[in-house]
Amino acid sequence: MGVVAVLYLLFLILLQPQSYVIAALFEHIQDIPPTDYDFVILGGGTAGSVVANRLSENQDVNVLLVEAGGPNMGILPIDIPLFTYIIPSQYEWNTTTIPQPALNNRSVNFPHAFILGGSSSHNGMIYNRGPKDDWDRYARLTGDDGWSWNSIQPFIAKNERWTPPADNHNTTGQYDPAIHSTTGINSVTLEGFSLPIDSLGLQASQQLGGIFSFNLDYNSGNPLGLSWAQYTINNGTRSSAAASYLAPNFLQRPNLHVLVNARGSRVLQITSDSKTPAFLSVEFAHDLDGPLYHAKASKEVIISTGAINTPQILLNSGIGNSSFLSSIGIQPLVHLPGVGQNMSVHASTKNAWIVNSSAATDDIIFQNQTLQNLLVDEWMETKQGPLVDSPETQNVYLRFNQSTLEILGEDPSSGPTAPHVSLGMQPGFFPIVPPTGKFLTLSTTILTPTSRKCSITINSTLPLNVFAPPVVDAKTLTTRFDILGMREAIRTAIAFFSAPAWDEYIVGPTSNLAAALESDDALDEYIRSIGGPNEHVVGTASMTAEDADYGVVNPDLLVKCVEGLRIVDASVLPLVTAGHTQAPVYIVAERASSLIKKKWGI
Ligand SMILES: *[C@@H]1O[C@H](CO)[C@@H](O)[C@H](O)[C@H]1NC(C)=O
Ligand SMILES: *[C@@H]1O[C@H](CO)[C@@H](O)[C@H](O)[C@H]1NC(C)=O
Ligand SMILES: *[C@@H]1O[C@H](CO)[C@@H](O)[C@H](O)[C@H]1NC(C)=O
Ligand SMILES: *[C@@H]1O[C@H](CO)[C@@H](O)[C@H](O)[C@H]1NC(C)=O
Ligand SMILES: *[C@@H]1O[C@H](CO)[C@@H](O)[C@H](O)[C@H]1NC(C)=O
Ligand SMILES: *[C@@H]1O[C@H](CO)[C@@H](O)[C@H](O)[C@H]1NC(C)=O
Ligand SMILES: *[C@@H]1O[C@H](CO)[C@@H](O)[C@H](O)[C@H]1NC(C)=O
Ligand SMILES: *[C@@H]1O[C@H](CO)[C@@H](O)[C@H](O)[C@H]1NC(C)=O
Ligand SMILES: *[C@@H]1O[C@H](CO)[C@@H](O)[C@H](O)[C@H]1NC(C)=O
Ligand SMILES: *[C@@H]1O[C@H](CO)[C@@H](O)[C@H](O)[C@H]1NC(C)=O
Repeated sequence: MGVVAVLYLLFLILLQPQSYVIAALFEHIQDIPPTDYDFVILGGGTAGSVVANRLSENQDVNVLLVEAGGPNMGILPIDIPLFTYIIPSQYEWNTTTIPQPALNNRSVNFPHAFILGGSSSHNGMIYNRGPKDDWDRYARLTGDDGWSWNSIQPFIAKNERWTPPADNHNTTGQYDPAIHSTTGINSVTLEGFSLPIDSLGLQASQQLGGIFSFNLDYNSGNPLGLSWAQYTINNGTRSSAAASYLAPNFLQRPNLHVLVNARGSRVLQITSDSKTPAFLSVEFAHDLDGPLYHAKASKEVIISTGAINTPQILLNSGIGNSSFLSSIGIQPLVHLPGVGQNMSVHASTKNAWIVNSSAATDDIIFQNQTLQNLLVDEWMETKQGPLVDSPETQNVYLRFNQSTLEILGEDPSSGPTAPHVSLGMQPGFFPIVPPTGKFLTLSTTILTPTSRKCSITINSTLPLNVFAPPVVDAKTLTTRFDILGMREAIRTAIAFFSAPAWDEYIVGPTSNLAAALESDDALDEYIRSIGGPNEHVVGTASMTAEDADYGVVNPDLLVKCVEGLRIVDASVLPLVTAGHTQAPVYIVAERASSLIKKKWGI
């Protein structure tokens, strides 16, 4: 971290002393007074922060939240929305996939954040609830109507606190106020600094109509068309789960202890009266060489370490496919072969176009350090200017038509409100801006991937190291639907940019994209050389109906065949939503908190 960040920290301490009093944030378990915890939550990410907040609302309930990464406060590139792509790797898990044959044998990054707030502390901040049909499919797959679109509405309201955008512009016609809550905990807002790409996007939508038609609000249950994106940003600053649900007023609760720099390894059984194993102890280390510490819960242990770490911790604990566990020298305790299997993740490519050199884009902010420093100063003083926004502006969500679906061979979507593809626009060359030039990036994403047998497991090398990175096989673009769909998505992007609105803005595709458009084979090669899984990973500890013969948790998110153990994070969603996964994780966490409170009468 450079001088700017240190100054920023100082600035925070001087101007808002209360926001840096880390009342109940502990760096070592030995700093915490001995406490009998009702609940121990492993993982202070997007979901764990919510559960910790909600359970500690009752002051008679003692809660310990255990997070592997460090505190989130006062870190400039995390707080500044536009800096999402330049967050240093010290806040990342640095996970990569094993070589992927369908991606030219590349091992690709599989980002997830290593810091309080989890991936909500490093993501693109897009707030997207997903289509109605996806939630109704979760209800069908689990036999629990509580997961249907209509039933989750109260949990959306508990999470969302709609706020004006940073520049306080008139937002009429940019979203539907009737479907938003102003009473939740996490701030949701619209873009706070406009660039020319915005009005051009709207013009193109008008000129082309059809699948590109304007949709007032993509969070209505039907996201199809072009919409303004919505973000978890508050007054020009990232509003992560940590910044919102673990804000200073919540951290001050005497019954909530937040332990950082504590990496979870396993959950352990404690003796119980019943014959069902009870996993009420959490094992963790402050140092990878040990020692290992334990924290016990009298009511429940909740694993919220995210779709990548959760299956790893379950497998380390002996919960998983018994024959696999035996083969790698772990004593199997609970046979749940679904752990780490059936992962569901989007496939994405980032495509770039060269734009008019007189156009305003974000590129220059990353090409000219003097300018960037000035903008950081402006941001610190006023929370205004181009740094207040996520790089992603408008989104198009679209369904393939019937004739395209026939070519692709199937329709994996959940129903008519569910898009197959998204086009996400970014006014610059992201993630890595080259030293010169002005660009427009459009990411094309397959939202209904059909690649299966994707898995997250652990290395079979002996002796076992519980802290070794997980073995991730994303199997991205291994099916006909996914690769042909990606071709179609890129051609749809070309069609979008053929609207007259772009005539004076777009100069043309970058050279590798231009070459790819020459033939199907060239396009496939381009996709396989730059495409990969994105951060939207779910399904690795999937919920299924109570009587299903597969799956890891019941619809109430309690782990099957054991006592005392619940999973609350993206792992429980059986299939990835056709949208960004952050809001669904908040919804899962709010509903889970409510189920837990109900069960224990708290
Ligand atoms: C990821 O890599 C960075 C840079 O080497 C390092 O500082 C960080 O600790 C790594 N993350 C983890 C979880 O080990
Ligand atoms: C990927 O690796 C496999 C095994 O080493 C090899 O057979 C295959 O040809 C490679 N594919 C590409 C595209 O390089
Ligand atoms: C915002 O814009 C709408 C439509 O253009 C207009 O009706 C409304 O009066 C404006 N609101 C304010 C506060 O200016
Ligand atoms: C469990 O693992 C074994 C060995 O790794 C494998 O053969 C078997 O198919 C797995 N079972 C299930 C249900 O996935
Ligand atoms: C993966 O999900 C399918 C249903 O989509 C199920 O039949 C299968 O058993 C699951 N696999 C594992 C290993 O749990
Ligand atoms: C960089 O930005 C500063 C501040 O806006 C400006 O004065 C300078 O001319 C810029 N440098 C270049 C090479 O554009
Ligand atoms: C936003 O931040 C600025 C700069 O710190 C401050 O002056 C302003 O009051 C804040 N606005 C809101 C709505 O919190
Ligand atoms: C379906 O979509 C494809 C690709 O966008 C297009 O070429 C075709 O005309 C469409 N078919 C119909 C019947 O609309
Ligand atoms: C398993 O771990 C060993 C030793 O650290 C490493 O060489 C190997 O590449 C790992 N295998 C996988 C599949 O990650
Ligand atoms: C670039 O934009 C200017 C207006 O800002 C326009 O006059 C010019 O024709 C554009 N150049 C191209 C190549 O479209």
